[in-house]
Amino acid sequence: MKILQFTDIHLTADKSKAYEVDVWNNLDRALKLGLEWHPDLLVFSGDIAFKEGDPAIYRKFSRYLHDTIPEETRVAVLSGNHDDPALLASEFGLEKALRPDGLYYDSETDNAHLIFLDSTRKKLEKEQLDFLEEICKDIRHKPLIFIHHPPFFAGIPYMDENHAIENPGDLARAVSACSVRPAFFSGHYHTEKSYLTIEGDVFLTPSTFYQIDPVSRRFKLASYQFGFRLIEWDGKTLFTSVHMINP
Ligand SMILES: [Fe+2]
Repeated sequence: MKILQFTDIHLTADKSKAYEVDVWNNLDRALKLGLEWHPDLLVFSGDIAFKEGDPAIYRKFSRYLHDTIPEETRVAVLSGNHDDPALLASEFGLEKALRPDGLYYDSETDNAHLIFLDSTRKKLEKEQLDFLEEICKDIRHKPLIFIHHPPFFAGIPYMDENHAIENPGDLARAVSACSVRPAFFSGHYHTEKSYLTIEGDVFLTPSTFYQIDPVSRRFKLASYQFGFRLIEWDGKTLFTSVHMINP
């Protein structure tokens, strides 16, 4: 299966620019380039809204997708720290996946177990960790786990010290029940990075908004290039690549 991951698209309600960046146009350029791969699934891994969850943003976004992507292409959305999981669930017909502690769900394909988590509140509560652990206990296929916040520290000082997930140890314990090695796909850090941990392989995907400097201890903008990730899993090999676009 072929998946495209877009993250931190930070859309505005009136299609205006966000901090001088035409976020709608960036998304459109990235998506149209990505569609050339004929993906089976598009994952939007959180921070769909510019600053905070807004029904008008989610409505415009879902209409835009409806008008832009082929009917057979599936879409999965995740909530990020700038989103509202309940509003997202209602716009994308995910009401059944909305629980008191977030919007999380899974689906199985013939060779993968797709798991979509919710780190809106920067922390995964016990209910969500139990959900993940239960899936891991009977996992048959490779877990491809999408979560807005990187599940573990990424060695990026400004983001690790100020904006990291609060309970990476709990998440590590939950996935240690998986007999098949998971691959995690995250955003939030506005940068591209891969790191291989005992718990699984982690891939950070750049934003379609702007990128953050991966070295500085203070917030520093790195670039206005934007990008997305292609993930191909054939049951034996996972191919993944990031594609960057000039503003
Ligand atoms: Fe974020």
